[in-house]
Amino acid sequence: MKSLKWKIFATLVAGLGLAGCDDTPSTGLAEAGDTMVERRQDSVQVARGKAVYEKYCLECHGAEGRGQPGDWRVRDADGHFPPPPLDDSAHAWHHPTAALLEVIREGSPQGQGKMEAWKGRLSEDEMQDVVAYIKSLWSDEVYTLWSKMERQSLEP
Ligand code: HEC
Repeated sequence: MKSLKWKIFATLVAGLGLAGCDDTPSTGLAEAGDTMVERRQDSVQVARGKAVYEKYCLECHGAEGRGQPGDWRVRDADGHFPPPPLDDSAHAWHHPTAALLEVIREGSPQGQGKMEAWKGRLSEDEMQDVVAYIKSLWSDEVYTLWSKMERQSLEP
C-alpha cells in the first residue's frame, strides 16, 4: 500500500514541472496534438536562472542564449565544438530536462567541447533554475515540440 502511494506521488511529481496539476501526463500528450501547450513556467525560478546564466554561462553561450558569431557546428582549430546557442536556434531543445541537467552537471561529453562540469560549482537548484531560464528562451512552438518529447521520455 505504501509503495503504491509512493508511486502515485512520484508520478505526480514527475508530471508537475510540465503539466502543472495535471495528474495524467500521458493523456495530456494525446490532447496536446499540434496545438500549443500552455507554458507552466515559474517566473521567479526563471528570474533566478537568468541571474545564474548571466554570471556563469553568458560569456560562452552569448546574451539570451544566442551563442557566438560563427557556426557552432564547425569544430575549431583544436577540434573542439564552439559553445552552441541555447535558445531555439540550435539543438538544446532536442534534449529532455534530464539530459540538459546531465550536460551541465558533467560538462561536454567525452571532452568534445570545452565546457567544464558545473557540479560542485553550482547547486542542483541553481542548475534547475538555469534550465528553466534556457527553456524560457524558446518560442511557444519549439516549447510545444520539446514538451511532447519530454513527456515521451518520462513514460515508462
Ligand atoms: C567556457 C565556455 C562555456 C561556459 C562558461 C559554459 N558552456 Fe555550456 N557549452 C560549452 C560548449 C563548448 C558546449 C558544446 C559541448 C560539446 O559539443 O561537447 C556547451 C554545451 C552546453 C549545453 C548542451 C547544448 C546542446 O545543444 O546539446 C548546455 C545545455 C550548456 N552548455 C549549458 C551551459 C550552462 C547552463 C552554463 C552556465 C552554468 C554553461 N553552459 C557554461 C561551453 C561553455
